[in-house]
Amino acid sequence: MSSKLFHNCRIYTPVDKGEPAAGMAQSNITHYNQGALLVENGMISKIGAESDVLKSLQNRTIDQFIDCKSRCMIPGFVDPHTHMCFAAERESEFQMRLDGMAYLDILKRGGGILSSVDGVKKATVEELYENCLKHALKALSLGTTTLEIKSGYGLDTENELKMLRAIGKVSRTTPQDVVATFLGAHAVPAAYKDDPDTFIDLVITEMLPAVSRQGVATQCDIFCEKGVFTIDQGRRLLRAAKELGMAVKIHADEVHDLGGAALAAELGAISADHLLAANDENIIKMARAGVVANLLPATAYSLKKPYARARKMIDNRLPVALATDCNPGSSYTESMPFVIGLAILNMEMSPAEALTAATLNSAYSTGVADRCGSLDPGKQADLLLLDGESPAILAYHAGVSPVARVYKHGEKVC
Ligand code: NIG
Ligand code: FE
Repeated sequence: MSSKLFHNCRIYTPVDKGEPAAGMAQSNITHYNQGALLVENGMISKIGAESDVLKSLQNRTIDQFIDCKSRCMIPGFVDPHTHMCFAAERESEFQMRLDGMAYLDILKRGGGILSSVDGVKKATVEELYENCLKHALKALSLGTTTLEIKSGYGLDTENELKMLRAIGKVSRTTPQDVVATFLGAHAVPAAYKDDPDTFIDLVITEMLPAVSRQGVATQCDIFCEKGVFTIDQGRRLLRAAKELGMAVKIHADEVHDLGGAALAAELGAISADHLLAANDENIIKMARAGVVANLLPATAYSLKKPYARARKMIDNRLPVALATDCNPGSSYTESMPFVIGLAILNMEMSPAEALTAATLNSAYSTGVADRCGSLDPGKQADLLLLDGESPAILAYHAGVSPVARVYKHGEKVC
């Protein structure tokens, strides 16, 4: 058995009470100003004040001592929503948006998501893998030790499976834990422009069973939006995914309030994501149903839209998580520190709430809270050392990364 003692650190962590942290509990952070954490075989076995941890270790041999030099220690970030498996950037489209064209209008003209679909169709598994790995490793250097990656730029069985195979290969290569999500209903392909229902039939009868049979994704997602998929189409697809044992989630109420949040509540989704336009009543429905709100402030930033109403959600006991949405269109960043900074400065979230959102609650909305998302004994030793005194440094030292060291299973990976 190998043992490692991290000491001389200012520890900040949410505490896992067996469910996502909602309401006041979202700001419940355990803090040890002079803390220590014992790792045995890559798992956390003790955490506490340094003096208490040392006392409890009397007569025990510790293989390695790591002096954290008073840095702040937090759990590794869990990024619960990314589209980082793509073939090419869309910088010219960014310029079009700066010139005033709306994101959904670009999609309507065959650009946006559909231009990434063209790129993925031409790419090999190997090319997708290499590109995706580059983004995953960038995220790792910024403190993301677990992440979700979606398909959704294939839109047919062959290319969706190609993406999921590339994501699977990334998962086997990177030190991070990767959760794959099937997003075959991300946009309506040109050939089905006038008949999206038939496309949803194809997703349900052909793509979804193939994905499930091959075991390449554990979650299923859909983009419900004006001009993309309706709530009824979402209900049809996600019910079928649930029957196959998959966890379900929804790109909900991103631009228009279609009622995606209510559908997430109705289906008992693991999360509803975006929610920039979600209404009060549906926020309450989600809270009652125990759905986590995955908020993506870098998307609001890049689309120049009002931010999701995190304050309203937390005050109504809806657990809030934070994600990058890393994709070549609406939010091109791998940086959880950037997202946390936006949440603290533009969404009225406290540093404590944002920390819980980026670790524990995002672990719940990705189905991995049993092994990560907090520094509780029994979980993986996935942790970060920040150049700063507290998690507030993530917002305070803007535009750079205060993440000084990244440990996965207790091993230094950055
Ligand atoms: O979450 N809204 C839909 N999907 C992504 C954007 C994907 C893209 O533009 O390539 C999102 O914002
Ligand atoms: Fe997304």
